[in-house]
Amino acid sequence: MPTLIDGKSVAAELRAQLRQAVERLWQERGIRPGLALLLVGDHPASHVYVRSKAKACQEVGFFSIVEHLPADTPQTKVLEYIERWNEREDVHGILVQLPLPRHIDEQEVLLRIDPCKDVDGFHPENVGRLVIGLPGFVPCTPAGIRELLRRYVGSLSGKHVVVVGRSNIVGKPVANLLLQKTPDANAVVTVCHTGAPDLRPFTRQADVLIVAMGVAGAIGAEHVKEGAVVIDVGINRVVDSVSGKERLVGDVRFEEVFPKVSAITPVPGGVGPMTIAMLLWNTYRAATGEIWKPHEAT
Ligand code: GUN
Repeated sequence: MPTLIDGKSVAAELRAQLRQAVERLWQERGIRPGLALLLVGDHPASHVYVRSKAKACQEVGFFSIVEHLPADTPQTKVLEYIERWNEREDVHGILVQLPLPRHIDEQEVLLRIDPCKDVDGFHPENVGRLVIGLPGFVPCTPAGIRELLRRYVGSLSGKHVVVVGRSNIVGKPVANLLLQKTPDANAVVTVCHTGAPDLRPFTRQADVLIVAMGVAGAIGAEHVKEGAVVIDVGINRVVDSVSGKERLVGDVRFEEVFPKVSAITPVPGGVGPMTIAMLLWNTYRAATGEIWKPHEAT
């Protein structure tokens, strides 16, 4: 019987541990971790994500600020918020929810976040640190995937991990993370993407298949090797043809793939909850100064 990888319960366990660590940090050092969240525009899924992140902050005892700006906010205004939060001592983490409206230069905005407060791990300083194996902030979804694999699969050393997707948020960082010569990684990693005329020759080789395409039901049984582990990062809203209601589905056709695999993440309840748990842990580490300080950068 294949194992259902229960991200929801692992995330709940991590949040419970964090609640205790936050309490201790307050008692011992008088520090309460603070996260500032910026949402620009009316992207419906982003609203839901930012609300969930703020609620999660409250549940573990963090201080949080949510700033919601209209879609036509000029870039200079967005940068002003970041500058202000960079300066504030009670703000340890800064998160700008992506995607941003098209008139705003995403890279310019991410570049302005103090890398020591970059709890998303999207600043080029942290991206570079991940690539060359220095300590830094690891993007939350890849960190969550690594944690699930650590618990459910164990050693990935020498295993063939195939990543489908090349986004800066998931595909590229998860490939870099699992490639590291560290005990919890050391995988042989292949990255493929929708530019390939046929994904199957790549995906069928995977011992661990990580799918982050953002295309509902793109991966079926014909893409998966018998006994593989499948991590489905997709969160797609589709209208159910029978009930007419909206529901969430992954990039993987779960029912079809399930009998073939040794373990798989469901959608919802797989990778999604882990992203928020890792964001909270990154913010905690930013508050303790545990990850890295500027003087360590040289
Ligand atoms: N949009 C989709 N995923 C993410 C994420 O992990 N962080 C941010 N900031 N925006 C996102």
